[in-house]
Amino acid sequence: MLAISRVQKQTSALRLLQLSSRFHTSSSLHKANRNIAFVFDIDGVLIRGKKPIPQARSALELLNREKIPFILMTNGGGVLEAEKAKEVTHINGGPDISPLQVVQSHTPMKALVQDPEFNRVLVVGGNGDNARKVAQEYGFNDVIMPIDIVKANRSVSPHAMFTKCDFDEYAIDIDLKTPIDAILVFNDPRDMSTDVQVVQDLLNSNNGLIGTKRSLKSVEDRAKPSIPIIFSNNDYIYANDFPLPRFGQGAFRIITETLYNTTNKLSSPNNLQSLIMGKPFKLQYDFAHHVLIDWRDKLISKKFDAKQILPLLGSVPSESPFTDIYMVGDNPESDIKGANDNGWQSILLRTGVFQDEDYDSIIAKPTVGVFDNVEVAVKHVLQKHDIPIH
Ligand code: G3P
Ligand code: MG
Repeated sequence: MLAISRVQKQTSALRLLQLSSRFHTSSSLHKANRNIAFVFDIDGVLIRGKKPIPQARSALELLNREKIPFILMTNGGGVLEAEKAKEVTHINGGPDISPLQVVQSHTPMKALVQDPEFNRVLVVGGNGDNARKVAQEYGFNDVIMPIDIVKANRSVSPHAMFTKCDFDEYAIDIDLKTPIDAILVFNDPRDMSTDVQVVQDLLNSNNGLIGTKRSLKSVEDRAKPSIPIIFSNNDYIYANDFPLPRFGQGAFRIITETLYNTTNKLSSPNNLQSLIMGKPFKLQYDFAHHVLIDWRDKLISKKFDAKQILPLLGSVPSESPFTDIYMVGDNPESDIKGANDNGWQSILLRTGVFQDEDYDSIIAKPTVGVFDNVEVAVKHVLQKHDIPIH
């Protein structure tokens, strides 16, 4: 069901041509520079909330100067890759980042657009109706959001906090009699109580029809929900500019599973069946690896207007030009675990959720080490590979 993918255009050729002039390109990259690559986490590595991480700009500029390929891989999302690229560039004051260098948690969902089992989708999370716009831009046909359902029938979520302006600005009129095929959690919920209610209603519905409830007696496998649900990431916590970590989508996943398991009288090891994307899962690292190879090819060939080649969901690159891929992250559970599990090198920073006192108990230890910030880490790797720093 999920193994669908096609070559897709990620952004307009014109925009890519404009961007290409701002990237350092060369067909004579030094061998070592071509064969290593960096993958940067965003929150807690390049920015914190809306604030810059002071060393991020110089670290990325250094890699551009040395012509070393890098991409960003975040468990965040809720906006288009182009917007995320602009946001990071804007917060740090540069350098320019191409949308083709950005893998968000939901980016692999692009691979589902041509699957007829994902025709009418409920997208959850993100500000306003950003997630709808992203899903539509990816190519999903019929995209609805919880606010549309509440607009059609306020009793669905009696304590919803939507204002008239919210309904006017973000909701569309929908026919509740058309079933929903799948739930895609694009980003952290903003109105958790409404999202919890609507998602549970659908998971326990009669084939995705709002306002219906399946009979447990007729369900063969109660771990299987009425319609599939895909979470775009599993981050229990993440770092913003508050001193303590904040709950992320992983917390919503736990709430969703707990309620579903209770309703369906499931006990361990039985659990709601779902697909989880994002770090630390292999699916995301393989996807990012393809994107990194594609970006390297574009850097070398200078063909920034060429379509981005997206892989089959779940496919492993058959060959890789890289001897080492360095994942730079702040979250041992996502960034470091995923890197280690996939044979990448891993670097843990002190600029995000990780605290030194937790080192002994973290789930995965960085293969390269712990560093104060992204610039120190990048310089360390370049020195290790005898790449002169200019
Ligand atoms: O929702 C969690 C997200 O903000 C974490 O982002 O960039 O640290 O993977 P990142
Ligand atoms: Mg992070």
